[in-house]
Amino acid sequence: MSIFQQATILKKKINPTSSIGLVPTMGSLHAGHASLIHEAAKENNVVIVSIFINPTQFDDPDDLKKYPRNLDSDIKTIKSISEKILVYVPKPIDIYENSIVSSSYDFGVISEIMEAKHRRGHFNGVATVVEKLLVLFSPDRAYFGEKDFQQLQIVKLLVKQKKIKTKIIGCPILRRKNGLAMSSRNKLLTNEEINLASFIFEQLKLAKSLWKNKSANEIIRKIETSFFKKNHFKLDYFDIRYENTLLNAKKKSHKKVRGFIAAKFCEIRLIDNLSF
Ligand code: PAJ
Repeated sequence: MSIFQQATILKKKINPTSSIGLVPTMGSLHAGHASLIHEAAKENNVVIVSIFINPTQFDDPDDLKKYPRNLDSDIKTIKSISEKILVYVPKPIDIYENSIVSSSYDFGVISEIMEAKHRRGHFNGVATVVEKLLVLFSPDRAYFGEKDFQQLQIVKLLVKQKKIKTKIIGCPILRRKNGLAMSSRNKLLTNEEINLASFIFEQLKLAKSLWKNKSANEIIRKIETSFFKKNHFKLDYFDIRYENTLLNAKKKSHKKVRGFIAAKFCEIRLIDNLSF
């Protein structure tokens, strides 16, 4: 395993006939990230794991400042997964040159709802850094978690619009035993708070059980009320949407739908989703 700050140097280490898998991350790696890296190592000759806290996708400077950083333990985690991993830990200048700004994109409705509504400019920032990484390394495959389902759909649109050849692979959500989705932000919670945060997944499961014979509106009202009554949680949104288009689903049909939640718990913003 080797670590690089410059993409030009990293690229020289790759045999041109090797298949390349890319796993973009912002570090503070956990088992969810590791599952993506394992998948990439299974399917490619070489894996590039990028660790870069991308400033342009944060709309709140305080959130960027608070975002957990654990490079030493990240390196240990990656080392334990596979020898064929090249770790890319760039300085902003290697990605953005001299101007740290997002490009603008038109992803239609998908970039106006849920996370987009609550985090202004977030997906332009995500798309900018992902596009730069895909252009820098031309990977055969790039791996993204369903934990950030809206992000995954945006990245799929990005490669289509920009005619980038990389295959985008969606990977399932890894959870703690209590159901809480693994997240770098969980590191900002105490053990007791982590136990209490399972409320989010419990609400998703409750919504899923109601989906058999209740309308989306009835379920949304019920979940909103549960959050309203619960101490320390502030719901940003709970939505039931079609997987492909992310448009609102009204009631059960043959199409695949998911429940999507974002909530603040003890000032930490957590997101999750569940296939219904
Ligand atoms: P980050 O939050 O570090 O996540 C990196 C990748 O890990 C994303 O594709 C995310 O969906 C996936 N992931 C996170 N938690 C997961 C879990 N519990 N189970 C499965 N996969 C999980 O997402 C980002 O970084 C950034 O926006 C990035 C794409 C790197 C662009 O800056």
